[in-house]
Amino acid sequence: MLITDLVGALGAAHVLTDPDVTVSYETDWTGAFRGRAVAVARPATTDQVAAVLRICARHGVPVVPQGGNTGLVGGSVPAGAAAGAVVLSLRRLTAIEPVDAAAGLVTAGAGATLADVQAHARAAGYGVGVDFAARDSATVGGIAASNAGGERVLRHGMTRGQVAGLEVVLADGSVLRRLSGLPKDNVGYDLPSLFVGSEGTLGVITKVQLRLVGLPAARTAALLAVSDLPAAVGLVATLRATVASLDAVELVFGDGVDLVCAHQGRPAPFPGRPFPQDTPYLLVECVGPTDPTGDLAAAVETATGVLDAVVATTATDRERLWAYREGHTAAVNALDVPLKLDVAVPLARMSAFVDDLRALVPAVAPSARLHLWGHLAEANLHVNVTGLDRGDTGGREELTTAILTRAAADGGSIGAEHGVGRAKMAWVGLSRSPAELAVLAAVKHALDPTGLLNPGVIVSPGLTGSYRV
Ligand code: MLT
Ligand code: ZN
Repeated sequence: MLITDLVGALGAAHVLTDPDVTVSYETDWTGAFRGRAVAVARPATTDQVAAVLRICARHGVPVVPQGGNTGLVGGSVPAGAAAGAVVLSLRRLTAIEPVDAAAGLVTAGAGATLADVQAHARAAGYGVGVDFAARDSATVGGIAASNAGGERVLRHGMTRGQVAGLEVVLADGSVLRRLSGLPKDNVGYDLPSLFVGSEGTLGVITKVQLRLVGLPAARTAALLAVSDLPAAVGLVATLRATVASLDAVELVFGDGVDLVCAHQGRPAPFPGRPFPQDTPYLLVECVGPTDPTGDLAAAVETATGVLDAVVATTATDRERLWAYREGHTAAVNALDVPLKLDVAVPLARMSAFVDDLRALVPAVAPSARLHLWGHLAEANLHVNVTGLDRGDTGGREELTTAILTRAAADGGSIGAEHGVGRAKMAWVGLSRSPAELAVLAAVKHALDPTGLLNPGVIVSPGLTGSYRV
């Protein structure tokens, strides 16, 4: 029996079947995605992960790998085609190896949180080139599996750019290990890269080797209120061209900042200046070996459209400014379970896109409330909608189709940094051609011929074969 075999491999304490206990593994962070697992398996080693995969393959039961469950697209819960799967939680694989200071690398178990790896690297004088608000819960395995973006993409790229190597357990339980750490190791296809962003559909990531980045001696953040979105986009161009220390350009709007202030009990960033609700605010951060404040101030002073600015140079003041930006996800989720979309639209078309969204959303869903924020330097906009009827799946789909079709029409992406998961499956064809979809299915079939790994994510189960539950 499946459960008996899992207990034999992991011990009874690490095979969870009590619904009161498994529910937190079956529901994603937002509460939007829920499913039922036959069991939650909690291995502590790569060998135990391999044993779980062999057992599931033998019983023909699907497997949903799970890290911190903060992925936001439902890819880590046993819903839809993965109903009745074994949730394979990687959270006990938390070991972090000593930093290789000469190579600038660290290897961590998939279940180590981003915050723990950042602290570990910092103690050795290094930073991690990936960062975002969910750092305390998100695991490095999940970050690699979803090719997470975040707030440092401008300088360091997506997670793919930071992954030097991986250890992955394949569907049949065999282990693929590429952890040489050599920056030049050009022998055939780059397999670690293939698994980055594969969302648990090609293998289960058990170790992640990350490139580390230097820790800047000085850091300055500024929150800028800007007259309108075209001016904000113009400011991105100015900053990019003239401020070499530029590290992040994040976008929020007046109404979102008010929401965060109300949720966290914070004072407004520009007290006594009631800017209109649709005023864009840019959170700009610069880093360098010397204080970058002068460079940033010089660029901002010559820019058009900056209405006001708050500058922060101490860690406490910077955290205070970042809270206005990073508080958005929790503040929106506190209203109700939002429809969460994550698109990229070429910067030149961003303003027209936002104008269209502000008209389109009330036309499709009159009672809805639109929340926009994102990573402006990377043309990545988070489009959240609250006030929708929870049970009105058709209404949510209609709105999703309208917004994603609009983004795709502008040459945008329907899944900028959160990936596909279960949330975007129906719309993948808006961003990928039939030829690309055929290659995705062929890769999936080559590595997971029975389709047991996270079925219903990226490639639809029908394209890869069948599985028994
Ligand atoms: C963000 O940038 O705030 C995150 O991607 C989370 C979200 O979209 O809610
Ligand atoms: Zn984001």
